[in-house]
Amino acid sequence: MSRTEVTQETLVSLAKRRGFVFQASELYGGIAGFWDYGPYGVELMNNLKASWWQFFVREQPDVVGVDGAIIQSPKLWKASGHIDGFNDPLVEDLVTRKRYRADHLAGADTNDIDKLSGLLKDKKSPDGNPLGPVRTFNMMFKTFVGALEDEDSVAYLRPETAGAIFANYKNVLDTARVKVPFGIGQIGKAFRKEISPRDFIFRVRELEQLEIEYFTQPEQAAETLERFKKLYDEWFAQLGLDQNKLSWRQLSEDERAHYSVENWDIEYKYFGEKPKELGGIANRTDYDLSHHAEASGRDLRYFDAEKGEHFLPYVIEPTLGAGRLLLAVMDSAFAEEEVNGETRIVLKFKPEIAPVKVAILPLSKKLELSSVSRKLYTDLVQRAGYNIEYDETQSIGKRYRRQDEIGTPYCVTVDFETLNDGCVTVRERDSMKQERVKMKELASKLIF
Ligand code: GAP
Repeated sequence: MSRTEVTQETLVSLAKRRGFVFQASELYGGIAGFWDYGPYGVELMNNLKASWWQFFVREQPDVVGVDGAIIQSPKLWKASGHIDGFNDPLVEDLVTRKRYRADHLAGADTNDIDKLSGLLKDKKSPDGNPLGPVRTFNMMFKTFVGALEDEDSVAYLRPETAGAIFANYKNVLDTARVKVPFGIGQIGKAFRKEISPRDFIFRVRELEQLEIEYFTQPEQAAETLERFKKLYDEWFAQLGLDQNKLSWRQLSEDERAHYSVENWDIEYKYFGEKPKELGGIANRTDYDLSHHAEASGRDLRYFDAEKGEHFLPYVIEPTLGAGRLLLAVMDSAFAEEEVNGETRIVLKFKPEIAPVKVAILPLSKKLELSSVSRKLYTDLVQRAGYNIEYDETQSIGKRYRRQDEIGTPYCVTVDFETLNDGCVTVRERDSMKQERVKMKELASKLIF
């Protein structure tokens, strides 16, 4: 008997029990919409981000990277439309005063207040109480820069990473060896006052994004969008995401932002439920550059030397939430198997992204074994440069179970025979097959 489907409850409990994700400020009762990554979560997340950077920035000859500040001038967010328009529709239960996303209660993918008011006219709250009117609610976190907390010192935590890319478009063009068409990639935190954060790390208030803004000739925009859809497909397969749970969905005009002329969501069937947004690709036209040009008074047009004319590039934006990616990767990797009458849970991560690549497990705590094992650990960690765990506590069965649950591809046991023949036993996670390997050959065998 084996199963690969996992419920949200099981995954949340595994994530906590094994140190992937903890509730932020759990010690003080938690804070809704914020999560901390534990020792294995941070390793997994770093591997995912490194893989994205390698694939989408380094391996694409026409993409470069930036790392912008979280706080930018409020003028940037005014020009981008976030101060006036980054709103969610909100309704309040008139008895409990609990607040809800109106579009979620109405079951409609729209932000249109009139439409939502119509849909919710005769509806009650989930607690069965009457609802107030549908209102808009700005989702940006406000703060103050400087000593005085007045209107002149208001600033915002960025609601998306894209802003700093648009603001640096000219700087990059002038300093890096790029010309249109080219892209700028960035990984970083963004902050949104979500009305109802939920579904574990799926909808949070502090999130991380992996975004590219690709600047292109308007006539090449559609082709570029297709290129990035294909790149996503290739990369998701490389990460080991369950292909049966991934699907592209084109957004209707109602669902798209007003400036976007074509928008696709890549959806993932989290926990075997209905597909939900993992990331997206949008054709944002010249909306961003034209607004930043107008607001800043700077000419952001590009000179096409061949045609001898100036034009404002169109932008294709592939974007992805890091937390949603990590959740999809854990969901895809999950398996529960019956082994010799016992249940084992295993996360079958691709070795490249596994939080721990190799576990060194001496079969005894005796000095002669632990000194050989520790030396092996140090040699391997220094030569291979990836994360290795050393564990000499508990029975070997319990140690294997623990490594399976955090998804370690290889366990290396060191026994008394090792002292005579210089060999160790390597156990492969998925097949559980064991092989005797010379210690000297280990580093060259375990390459990811
Ligand atoms: N620059 C475009 C942009 O920010 P978005 O659809 O609002 O577009 C991009 O966000 C991605 O960020 C989404 O596809 C999703 O993966 C992730 N994301 C957005 N809001 C999120 C939230 N509250 N919690 C977790 N991830 C979120």
